[in-house]
Amino acid sequence: MPQTITAIQGPVLTFTGDPFQKGLDQTLVYEPDAIVAMEDGLITHFGPADQVKGLLPPNCDVKSYGKDALISAGFIDSHVHFPQTPMIAAYGEQLLDWLNKYTFPTEQKFADKEFARSVAKVFLQENLRNGITCGCVYCTVYPQSVDALFEEAEKLGMRLAAGKVLMNRNAPQSLLDTTQSGYDESKALIGKWHNRGRLMYAITPRFAPTSTGDQLEAAGTLWQEHPDCFMQTHLSENKGEVAWVKELFPDRAGYLDVYDHYKLCGHRAIFGHGIHLTDSELQRMHVTGSAVAHCPTSNFFLGSGFFNIAHAMKRERPVRVGLGTDLGAGTSFSILATLNEAYKAAQLNSYALSAAHAYYLATRGTAHAMYLDDKIGSIAPGMEADLVVLDMRSTPIIDYRMRFAESFEEALFIQMTLGDDRAVQATYVAGQLVYTRDQTREVADTGQIAAE
Ligand code: GUN
Ligand code: ZN
Repeated sequence: MPQTITAIQGPVLTFTGDPFQKGLDQTLVYEPDAIVAMEDGLITHFGPADQVKGLLPPNCDVKSYGKDALISAGFIDSHVHFPQTPMIAAYGEQLLDWLNKYTFPTEQKFADKEFARSVAKVFLQENLRNGITCGCVYCTVYPQSVDALFEEAEKLGMRLAAGKVLMNRNAPQSLLDTTQSGYDESKALIGKWHNRGRLMYAITPRFAPTSTGDQLEAAGTLWQEHPDCFMQTHLSENKGEVAWVKELFPDRAGYLDVYDHYKLCGHRAIFGHGIHLTDSELQRMHVTGSAVAHCPTSNFFLGSGFFNIAHAMKRERPVRVGLGTDLGAGTSFSILATLNEAYKAAQLNSYALSAAHAYYLATRGTAHAMYLDDKIGSIAPGMEADLVVLDMRSTPIIDYRMRFAESFEEALFIQMTLGDDRAVQATYVAGQLVYTRDQTREVADTGQIAAE
């Protein structure tokens, strides 16, 4: 009989609930020598190695990653633009000028499906190299860019949400749809892709300035027709943007109220940024169960500000918060680098984000923000087997610094402060090993992935 069960051994970190609400004592699980076993895409066993070993079939090989590894649920990126992969690190502008000068010209190239496919391959490979096993992804206005991404994600077996950008004003003519064509194309994409295997559709009005009220209303109607889809957009990222929305929608009470009015708040709504939300807007986010995607590398890069995570998640009215890279305004695919910047954003709000809370955010917390925490984001039997294996000594300076670490918390904090893609030694998607650092695939100048 072929062996279908895969088992790996090493230290494991996972969470059974939300430490922001219940504290770390009640939610953090650290098992210094554990086995995680997987079969048919799901985790079948998790526990101390000496206990789990006896429960596995006698012929089952257990791959040990050693005591300097850390096995975690795969990282989740709740806000990212795959078409911006070719324009990461675009100099000199804040949000609105950055969109006009760099983003819109780049996104026009995605009318060509084969170009879109070549970028999707690089994008997904970078996700796996960084231990990201699930994302909520913006495509472009062109439906073929959505097909290209989903086709490539399906080959990898990834759980992924994505959608066609809806945009019918305030962008170059060739990037505009209409209220009707945007609705029709999105509906057709939902029929084709939503819940096909692990793929999910996200209705994606880019943000209020690039959609008329009519188009936002059509997006709300579409979401009511397909309520288990995601809805993703941008919200209160930049002060100039907030002022522009006030001019464009003078009858609305504020930026969030524009979306609320068109029935775009609710479960599975993911709003990028939310830096400048008022208390009453945060209250409304809480009541409607809407989520913020916190994207600190982007917020610093575009000079947008620093999101106050502690305030957003306060226990009296917690808002769901996920973590996002927001490439290409974000500057790294690395979730460790993103946590490093999340720590700094918190510091600027006079709050110290603990390493354990940060790892929760990168995994189960983002799954919770996306209403996927019953499927992904933690390690337990029955959960989908998406895992990342970190190397806790991935660079000379990390190796050196780790000699002085006196606790697991400190070791975790060292990783998120100094670590990057080099710390990811293996990534598993649906129980399959899809990336191993030590057999790195080369990305050639052409953007093609070289033969494995
Ligand atoms: N607001 C509207 N579009 C975008 C985008 O592509 N990136 C970011 N960071 N903000 C946006
Ligand atoms: Zn964005």
